[in-house]
Amino acid sequence: MNLTEEEQKEVVKVLKSQMLTLLAGEVVKNFEREFANYIGVKHAIGVNSGTAALHIAIAALEIGPGDEIIVPPFTFIATASSILQNNAIPIFADIDNKSYMLDPDSVKKKITDRTKAIIPVHLSGITADMDPLLDIAEDNNLYIIEDACQAHGAKYKGKKVGSIGDLGTFSFYPSKNMTTGEGGMITTNNSKLAEQCRLIRHHGEPSWYVYNRLGWNYRMTEIQGAIGRIQLKKLDGYVKIRNKNAQYLTDKVKDFKGIDPPYVPKYCEPAFNYWIGRIHPEIIGLTKEEFIEKFPKSKVLYPIPLYQTKLFQQKVAYPKGCPWSCPFYGKEIDYTKLKLPIVEKVTREIFALDIHPKITKEELDDNINIMKNLGNK
Ligand SMILES: Cc1ncc(COP(=O)(O)O)c(C=O)c1O
Repeated sequence: MNLTEEEQKEVVKVLKSQMLTLLAGEVVKNFEREFANYIGVKHAIGVNSGTAALHIAIAALEIGPGDEIIVPPFTFIATASSILQNNAIPIFADIDNKSYMLDPDSVKKKITDRTKAIIPVHLSGITADMDPLLDIAEDNNLYIIEDACQAHGAKYKGKKVGSIGDLGTFSFYPSKNMTTGEGGMITTNNSKLAEQCRLIRHHGEPSWYVYNRLGWNYRMTEIQGAIGRIQLKKLDGYVKIRNKNAQYLTDKVKDFKGIDPPYVPKYCEPAFNYWIGRIHPEIIGLTKEEFIEKFPKSKVLYPIPLYQTKLFQQKVAYPKGCPWSCPFYGKEIDYTKLKLPIVEKVTREIFALDIHPKITKEELDDNINIMKNLGNK
C-alpha cells in the first residue's frame, strides 16, 4: 500500500463532515464519476468489494437459478463463487497455455442452452483476448462481465479493461493496483444496467422504504471514496512503475533456462499486478513446491484449478444442494469428472513475484539472482 498524507487529509475531511455514507455525502459520487471517466464508460457504481461488484453484476443481468456462466478456473474464488451467490452454475473452460487467459475455443465447447454469460478475467494486469469472446457472445446471445479486479489501467487494443464487456468489475483490496482498503467498482455504458446495479447495491431501495427488488447492503463508504479519489490520481504513475519493474525482471529472466517470464500478447498494454513466472520442472529438476521452498519471496498463485477445491468437488454452497439441485436446472453436474489439461499443468508450474511501487532495485536483483541460480541448474 502506498497511502500518504494526501489520502489522510481527504479522510479527515470526510470525518469532519460527519457524513460517512454515500446516502449522505458526495465523495463516492465524485469518485464514481472520476473512475467512469478514467475507464471511458458512462457509469461507475462504487461498492464495498470486488466480490460484491461481481455478485451485483450477475444479478443485474437477471441471471439466476437454472442458468450457467462460463469462467476460467485459474482465478480468485470470487469470480466463480459470485455465480453461486446468484444461484447460478459456474461452468469452467480451459485457459490458454501462454497467456493463462480464458481460451475462446474451450469456451465455445462449454456453451449450452443454459449459458447466459462469460466472465473473462484480466489476470494480474494482462488482458484476456476479448474479440473472440465478444464474437462468441454475439453469436450465442450471451453477456460479458469483465473481471478486471486485478487489472486497473490495463488496455485491450487501446481500450481500458472494464469498458469492453456489458459490465466491468474492479477490486480495491490493498494488493491491487489501487486501493481503498476494501472496496470495488462496477463499470458500464448501459444506463439500465447501471440503475439496476445501484438498486441492488442498496436493498433494491430507490427511495426511503420503497423496495423494488431484492438487494443487499454493498455500499462503498465515503472514507473509501475519499481514499479512492486520491489513489485514482496516482494510478497511472503506479502502473508505470509496476510495468517498469515487471520489464526489468522479464529482461533478466528471459534467457534463464527453465524459467519463463509472463507472456504479454500483442493486443495488450499491461498494468502488471504481480509478475507471474513459470518453471519447467523437467529442466530445473525441481517441483513447484521445491522451487518455492528454495525461493521464499516467491508467492504461490492459485495452486489448484478452482473446480478441484472442496466447494466444487463436494458441491458445498447453499443448504439442500442448491444451486446444483435447483429444479430450474434439472441437470447433473459432476466437477470430479472435469479435466482441463492446460490449467492442471499451469497450476503446477506457476509462481508470482511482487513488483509493487515500493519494491527496491536491490530486492528485484536479489530475486533475479535466486532465479538465475535455480534456473541454470
Ligand atoms: C480476479 C479477482 N476477482 C475478484 C476479486 C474479489 O475482490 P475483493 O477481494 O475486493 O472482494 C479479486 C480480489 O482478490 C480478484 O483478484
